[in-house]
Amino acid sequence: MNEKPRILVWHVQGDAYRDALRERLPDAPIEAINAARHENGGAVLSGPDSGPAVGDDASATADAMSSAEVLLAWKLPPGALAPMSALRWVQVTGAGVDHFLESSELPAAVTVTRSLGRFGIQVSEYVVGYLLHHLIGIGAYRDQQRRHDWTRGERPLLADRTVGIVGLGSLGLPTARALVALGARVLGVRRSGLALDGIDEVFSAANWRDMLPACNALVIAAPKTADTVGMIDREALAALPAGAVLINVSRGDLVDEDALLAALESGHLGAAVLDVFATEPLPEDHPLWDQPRALITPHIAAPSEVEVIADEFAENYRRYVAGRELINVVDPERGY
Ligand code: GLV
Repeated sequence: MNEKPRILVWHVQGDAYRDALRERLPDAPIEAINAARHENGGAVLSGPDSGPAVGDDASATADAMSSAEVLLAWKLPPGALAPMSALRWVQVTGAGVDHFLESSELPAAVTVTRSLGRFGIQVSEYVVGYLLHHLIGIGAYRDQQRRHDWTRGERPLLADRTVGIVGLGSLGLPTARALVALGARVLGVRRSGLALDGIDEVFSAANWRDMLPACNALVIAAPKTADTVGMIDREALAALPAGAVLINVSRGDLVDEDALLAALESGHLGAAVLDVFATEPLPEDHPLWDQPRALITPHIAAPSEVEVIADEFAENYRRYVAGRELINVVDPERGY
């Protein structure tokens, strides 16, 4: 029997993914490189803290790279794809594949698939959690508690609020449904503008700005593409009602960070819940850290879970071997 297509895992959790895949795909040749850093995949191919799991010598690493037909990875450092001459298919361990599509090194013939994990559930919980945190005033009451202060504030309800969601895909749609279940009025944006059950009104790429004046909260859950970079600009923020909350779980580049800082400083925005930034990790001296209206999390809204992603990848690998259509294939033109 012919050997199965060789799989290379390149990830900060390379060993964990390799072990999870070996359990699911016992006949497949699988090797792993442990990346040094999550943010840029910056593995070095030798060195004490990021030594490749394929073996300690550079020739084993080189061999794993040149023979891999299938790659499972989050991010790769520049130049990493060049030696992967047998590569036919990359599965990205996350939902956003912008960094792979932007790479000029990825040959056009290589199929890219993305993972959907449990990102929809994770993002829904994050968004609902932070919105309720803001509306109930959990942070403010915690501060009052420290001062033994019994001052009663307003008690606004999510059920009386309108939330706009930019991107009604694998992250935005489950979030929309969760908010609807809590009684919020939900508006949304998708490229086509086609209506969706339960969403009060759906706007298109052409008229999405018309949605903004109604939104007490705006959730950014769209992929990063040429069309979405910088879309949340000064005008978009100004179009939101005073006191609105912005939540970004997509990519930092969708939001103009200078305009965002200005809108937080002036108090036009009531809060910004930010999981993603133009530069990650957020630089130590970035003014957002100290902006009292900003709530910052380190890109944890929807983490990739090894066991879940391994299931998803294994299903795709079986399809690949059988010559069947892969799931979650990315359309490079569309960008997701
Ligand atoms: C995380 O950012 C992802 O794209 O899954």
